[in-house]
Amino acid sequence: MAVRPNQEENQFMWRLHLVDFAEQFKHPTWGIHHFQRVYNLSLKLADEQNLDVDEDALFAAAYIHDVGVFQPYKMEGVEHSERSAQVVEEILAPLGFQAAKMSLVKDIIKGHMFYSEPVDKTEAIIFHDADALDFMGAIGITRLLSLVEIDNWAPDVSSAISLIQKFSKNLPQRLHTLKAQEVAKIRQGEMNSYLAALSNETNGLQVL
Ligand SMILES: [Fe+2]
Ligand SMILES: [Fe+2]
Repeated sequence: MAVRPNQEENQFMWRLHLVDFAEQFKHPTWGIHHFQRVYNLSLKLADEQNLDVDEDALFAAAYIHDVGVFQPYKMEGVEHSERSAQVVEEILAPLGFQAAKMSLVKDIIKGHMFYSEPVDKTEAIIFHDADALDFMGAIGITRLLSLVEIDNWAPDVSSAISLIQKFSKNLPQRLHTLKAQEVAKIRQGEMNSYLAALSNETNGLQVL
């Protein structure tokens, strides 16, 4: 006899299916591991600031927010956050995700980028900060260097190093929550130590 999941298990089945769906997005910078990190960091930021958040909406947003970067969802002329928000229902509805939470997922996704302003909802604000923080620290350096020769953000190593300098300096100012700013300070230190060592070893980046 087939074992049926009980009601509680059923509530989480959509999460397993969404992770299965996201497995197709293998990319060092915007793939499934970035999705996992952003979800975990969003929960951590919420927890450490005693913020009440909808974890389902954060989970769904985490695993969909960058799908607009990838085929078959990528669309020329449509910014990836907007594109990812456009496909939320087509991805989540077949998984049995609660219809009442769809609009929150879309709101989170639309404002997730560091250059965007999140809407005034706790989930959107902490998600925005978590996504920006994933461009900082050791992980930020790793992600940016991994783009070399595969993405026009960083066509070569020098341009990736310029991005690391720029993000270290500018991203902390884009963060909205105090806890995220604290994490940013630590990650900024990691980036600056790396940049100082690199400069030291390459005659001030002249022989990179
Ligand atoms: Fe993004
Ligand atoms: Fe992202």
